[in-house]
Amino acid sequence: MRQYWRLDDAGWTLVLAGGEGLAEALYLGPRLPDGEDLAALDALSRRDVTGGMLDENPPLSLCPEARRSFPGQPGMVAYGADGALLAPVWAFERSEEYEEDRLALHYRAERLRLSFHFAVTYAGVLTAETALTSDAPIRLHWLAAPVLPVSGVYDDLIDTNGRWIGEFQLNRKPITPGIIQREARNGRSGHEHPPLAFLAGHGANNNSGQVLGLHYDWSGGHRMVLEELPDGRRQIQFGHTTGSEPVGTEFTTEKLSIAVSQSGLNGAGIAFQRQIRAALPPFRKPRPVHYNCWEAIYFDHDLASLKEIANRAADLGAERFVLDDGWFGKRDDDTSSLGDWDIDHRKWPDGLSPLIDHVQSLGMGFGLWFEPEMINESSDLYRAHPDWVLGPGDQITGRQQLCLDMSKPEVRRYLFDKISAVLSAHDIDYIKWDHNRLLPHPDAAQTRGIYALLDDLRAAFPEVEIESCASGGGRIDAGILTRCNRVWLSDSNDALERLRIQHDAALFLPGVATGSHVGPRVCHTSGRTLPMRLRAWVAAQRHMGFEMDPRELTEDEAATLKEVTAWWKANRDWMAEADILRLDADDPSVIAELQLAENGQRFVVFAGQAATSTQILPRPLRLAGLDPDARYEITLLPETNPLSRGKLALTDGSLTPTGQALMTAGITLPARFPETISIIEGTRL
Ligand code: DGJ
Repeated sequence: MRQYWRLDDAGWTLVLAGGEGLAEALYLGPRLPDGEDLAALDALSRRDVTGGMLDENPPLSLCPEARRSFPGQPGMVAYGADGALLAPVWAFERSEEYEEDRLALHYRAERLRLSFHFAVTYAGVLTAETALTSDAPIRLHWLAAPVLPVSGVYDDLIDTNGRWIGEFQLNRKPITPGIIQREARNGRSGHEHPPLAFLAGHGANNNSGQVLGLHYDWSGGHRMVLEELPDGRRQIQFGHTTGSEPVGTEFTTEKLSIAVSQSGLNGAGIAFQRQIRAALPPFRKPRPVHYNCWEAIYFDHDLASLKEIANRAADLGAERFVLDDGWFGKRDDDTSSLGDWDIDHRKWPDGLSPLIDHVQSLGMGFGLWFEPEMINESSDLYRAHPDWVLGPGDQITGRQQLCLDMSKPEVRRYLFDKISAVLSAHDIDYIKWDHNRLLPHPDAAQTRGIYALLDDLRAAFPEVEIESCASGGGRIDAGILTRCNRVWLSDSNDALERLRIQHDAALFLPGVATGSHVGPRVCHTSGRTLPMRLRAWVAAQRHMGFEMDPRELTEDEAATLKEVTAWWKANRDWMAEADILRLDADDPSVIAELQLAENGQRFVVFAGQAATSTQILPRPLRLAGLDPDARYEITLLPETNPLSRGKLALTDGSLTPTGQALMTAGITLPARFPETISIIEGTRL
């Protein structure tokens, strides 16, 4: 007998249908009316057969089966102890439904059990997981989170790729027959392929059209398969990169998070921002302005200079001082000492306390850098425990370093003890947790080990916030963001590049968890010199901080930075809960976003003029997410525009248009130089 199950949120419906064998997702799309006839929906979805086909269409189930002649990639590939491919005959066992927002389906086969779990979370995101258990050990090659059909509504895949200092690049490509397989094989969620994808409906853009957003909550490698079958059906699968094919009796995928939007990419992006924000570990409020000394002094630690830097940082408005790499072992450059987490008494003869006391006397908290999962061959730890290294002895190093095998309890114990000793002996409220090399091979046990260590440290030091950094944005995913409060989005503090990276990362990342700093005048990753006004406002779009040597600032630069920092402090509370909407600028040289308060009462627009426009005058910028019937008072913050010689209402004072006018007619900004940014504040009247 065929059964139906239904999960709903305000904007979408999932319908599952199944009989004796594995169920399939019959429908995932815009919300269906209550009382929809699911049997009729099922009947409507039945497909014909024709020549050159099997006599029935093999089901595109929650775990498509090769045994049933499914013509695409199967949802599970596993081998028994004898090496034979498993071809279980699944039989429905039971379903569990809880409080209308959770559902589990359970199946049984000879010596195996398979379950699919679905839940509707806060923010209207659907999560889905698969669990497989066996009575005897099996070898797992692939297990997908519940496999979803992809409706023909979706034309394009918006794929995410990136690189060091070039995170979160979006690639839009048509979905065509065959497979698009993306795999992050470097062991981290990675710069290269963050575990995130969007399927865009006909003509979908930031603010309109149907979009299916997906992300996989896992900090290790993942694989995504998007496949259009010869019969026209399409499927999407997400799961771990298995690497060494684990042998065991229990396997689960991580959660696949799914957002269905009918309001373009922003609908999915906002749902993900809210989901991630709600799952962050507790953190200090208001969010303190950071100062991080890395780009000021690198490994050159000197108490007198750092005290002077701290004085100036505090004067600019910093509220937390983070001492970066170089305080431990004999770490004078990046060739040694990872693993030796004892204070370097050559640089710090009286320990870190003199700096911490000074920083605290200025009213700032203190944070410290670690890179726990790594080891240099030039370290006491390596000399004592060469066997703690992950991977083969002849592997290629990365930044002259190797990874510790985090699946080993003795490695985790060592790191826990070392980090705890430093945290217990000092008043430290923040860790910048770095991870600067790719794994020698993908390894899920490594990620589990890291999670275990982070969980243990968080339990022992609940007051200490943790930032995830991996050469900038090499480990940004929903798994790490339930253990860390903030990510270091990129090692690029070039404000123009940051403007773009922040814009695209906002499809997923909430502002409150996204670190953004004002770097040195000459950017160390691009060599570019950009005006302080742009640098400061780009940092003020997210969790603000400074990273330059403040001794290099001119009076004018310091005054601008102080002013923007004061603005950020006055606005940080509501911005910490705000939704970020990417605006569809008609001008490709404009990168603009609107941050809308949770209660809809206020907003701010950051409109970056990243390059010179093709046309001579700015095109109107249409806003998004506002109440069409409400009136808003809008004000352009003062800016200097030598190119502007007309008379614009906005530069003369505030205006009070309706949300509808702002969203359909838009705002006309003055003619601007490239590499500038305009800030528009809005208040609902
Ligand atoms: C890479 C990080 O992304 C930088 O911010 C800095 O912490 C260095 N590592 C330190 O080695």
